[in-house]
Amino acid sequence: MSSKDFAGLTAIVTGAGSGIGLSVAKLLHQNGAKVFGFDLQAGEMNPYATYIECDIGSATSVTNAFAQFAKLSSNLDVLINNAGIGSLTTVEKESDEVWEKVLNVNVIGTARICRAAIPLLRKSKSAAIVNTCSIAAVDGIPNRAAYSASKGAILTLTLAMATDHLADGIRVNAVNPATTDTPWVARLLEQSGNPAAQRQALEARQPMGRLVTPDEIATAIVFLANPVNKSVTGTTLNVDGGMHSLRIPK
Ligand SMILES: NC(=O)c1ccc[n+]([C@@H]2O[C@H](COP(=O)([O-])OP(=O)(O)OC[C@H]3O[C@@H](n4cnc5c(N)ncnc54)[C@H](O)[C@@H]3O)[C@@H](O)[C@H]2O)c1
Repeated sequence: MSSKDFAGLTAIVTGAGSGIGLSVAKLLHQNGAKVFGFDLQAGEMNPYATYIECDIGSATSVTNAFAQFAKLSSNLDVLINNAGIGSLTTVEKESDEVWEKVLNVNVIGTARICRAAIPLLRKSKSAAIVNTCSIAAVDGIPNRAAYSASKGAILTLTLAMATDHLADGIRVNAVNPATTDTPWVARLLEQSGNPAAQRQALEARQPMGRLVTPDEIATAIVFLANPVNKSVTGTTLNVDGGMHSLRIPK
């Protein structure tokens, strides 16, 4: 990858205020893209991205955010659907309210953003969408019923969109992170009652014996978005310390 690969290109990154999205905004910026961060909060995205307030869980908010974006940019080349929320329980205990909230933000929110972005992306010669999915879409992880279902939907949405928009010249790919060292995970550790032991357990779950870093996920996302990868579409890249595929004898 060269630092000029995204020169002249414009990107939207959802959830750019924190964690993985922040790392993506920074890396795209370093590689020459003009970046807009759609988020509930600006977080730390300045100076890598221009903040546009957006709740992807609200149709009105998404419409307003794209209206604001249209005032600032006449083109869009790259869309990173990264904003998401979690939930920690089993199907037996999950309420309808939580199901609706998780699916509304993670799945319908992604679709809402794509619906607004695709007419703009269609005009680009370097159009790419990358969805932040999860290893929970392809592996059974305990206590993640609604979250896993939402990420499974994003995995298949990635394939459906890659097919539907092939002729439009829009490539659509996804990454599957395993547990990544972001503020999201820090919050989960805090809630666990024993953050040190819980962190050790999460590290041990990944064959490399450590959490993935947000910069490692960003490198994979930016690779998939990079216009030099003209033939890569409908692909999901696991960035998981070997969690999905490796079996290490104890
Ligand atoms: N951290 C992990 O272990 C991990 C693993 C697999 C997948 N993921 C996925 O990576 C993505 C980013 O996670 P992270 O760990 O960086 O989390 P994070 O909490 O550090 O950052 C998430 C960002 O998304 C924003 N956001 C949340 N809801 C939003 C909404 N409705 N509209 C707009 N913005 C919203 C937040 O304000 C925040 O800035 C999520 O989709 C998550 O499911 C994370």
